[in-house]
Amino acid sequence: MPGPVKVKRELSVGEVAKRAGVAVSTLHFYEAKGLITGNRSSGNQRRYPREILRRIAIIRVAQRAGISLADIRAALETVPEGRTPTQADWRRLSTNWRDSLQQRIDSLTQLRDQLESCIGCGCLSMAECPLRNPQDRLGADGPGPVLLQPVAKDGAMGEGDQPGGFKGA
Ligand code: FES
Repeated sequence: MPGPVKVKRELSVGEVAKRAGVAVSTLHFYEAKGLITGNRSSGNQRRYPREILRRIAIIRVAQRAGISLADIRAALETVPEGRTPTQADWRRLSTNWRDSLQQRIDSLTQLRDQLESCIGCGCLSMAECPLRNPQDRLGADGPGPVLLQPVAKDGAMGEGDQPGGFKGA
């Protein structure tokens, strides 16, 4: 009667690539970036623990969500002793990445809305175009040289006030 089937605990780089659905060069790249680590066999061949497949799956999902490799590595470094992320780890990481993704969605939505005001316009004006001058936070305060307007609390310019809120000497 045959004995129990032995589960191979370590995989070659080719096996990992095949099972994870990535190119061997991608694995080398991940390793160079510190996202995964392998061991050397006695014949100096690269070997990876089977758990690496879960780690690679997480890396791939995060990449699809647009998370940078640096951020993925930083997140994986929060998993104690470099172990394979558990379900609880994954819940925590994915929650953080969801928040980051939402921020980017909000930012892109705002960009799209700003772009809509440009469609059919073509002015590319520094004063009017939100895409030409995206940092213009003073735009909402009205037209003209806002910083040169009086800034008294009640909105009125007091005696001796200088434009821009400076008091005269
Ligand atoms: S091109 Fe006119 S508002 Fe952007």
